[in-house]
Amino acid sequence: MSDEHIKNIRPGERIEDLFVIRRIEMRDYEGRKYLVFNLGCSRGKIRGVYWGEDAEDLSHQFAENDVIKLCGVATDYRGERNIKIEAFRRATDDEIDITKLLPAGRYPREKLVESLYRRIDSVEDEYLGALLEAVFTDDFVEKFSIYPAAKLWHGAYLTGLVEHTLRVAKICDIACDFYPDCRKDLLMAGALLHDIGKVEEIKIGGFFDYSVAGRLVGHIVLGAIRVARAIEEIPDFPQNLAAEVLHLIVSHHGRQEFGSPVEPKTIEAMILHHADMLDGQTEGVQHIVQRELPAGREFSDFVKILGRYIYLDGYRSGEDFVDE
Ligand SMILES: [Fe+2]
Ligand SMILES: [Fe+2]
Repeated sequence: MSDEHIKNIRPGERIEDLFVIRRIEMRDYEGRKYLVFNLGCSRGKIRGVYWGEDAEDLSHQFAENDVIKLCGVATDYRGERNIKIEAFRRATDDEIDITKLLPAGRYPREKLVESLYRRIDSVEDEYLGALLEAVFTDDFVEKFSIYPAAKLWHGAYLTGLVEHTLRVAKICDIACDFYPDCRKDLLMAGALLHDIGKVEEIKIGGFFDYSVAGRLVGHIVLGAIRVARAIEEIPDFPQNLAAEVLHLIVSHHGRQEFGSPVEPKTIEAMILHHADMLDGQTEGVQHIVQRELPAGREFSDFVKILGRYIYLDGYRSGEDFVDE
């Protein structure tokens, strides 16, 4: 995602569009109240200012995460693009299209869904194949393939979850070949299922947030519950295989302090955990590189979650690494 489109808006251009309120603040200029907004859409962020007589009233009616439809004119404010808002109102449910409001991924969703089905079809084991089919119904895939992988940090864009899942599956596929006892079907099932709980953990509104179940239960347990329910419906599903699949899900964060109730105890669980970490962390760094490279600095801003600065010089844009 880039701010390109927003940067290309010219002063004087009329704007009539949907935006998410990321921040709203009432200010005062010589006794006159006005509103300052941080507005977001899938193309980036922009500042907006509203000077209407009803600014104070409206400040009580709108909050972060609300989607608004506004009309106004683009202006320059201290070298930054800005919208002088003439009028705005709450968007209706029919008008809201999350693909226009939220950050988008790098790849077409259909291509990602095709890759996902190819991975599912590669699992030959009768029971694991039946489990994947039971979980990844067309309705579920429709949802799974639009979700982000996280609220912030890595994969916080539409389709981020399926992209992450496919990269983890590919890393597992390659890693499995190094270890003679690794059971590829089991590992692949775990890779595809490991984060399905995120569909319940994350809530998509004006931007990504955690659901109540997400905060109270978390995606590891939510995913395990969904898989356990699906297993119950499959006749004669072997008990130990069920335990091993659930083990892959519940141990994938690797350590209790990272949210896994048990730590990896099989070859497949060890690989899955490291594949998940490898992709999560590297994708996070990749995101920082793409976001901050245009600023032309040698190092990124300090990245709190990693406790370090990322070196930026010398990168060109990312290569296509979706499974073919
Ligand atoms: Fe996870
Ligand atoms: Fe993951």
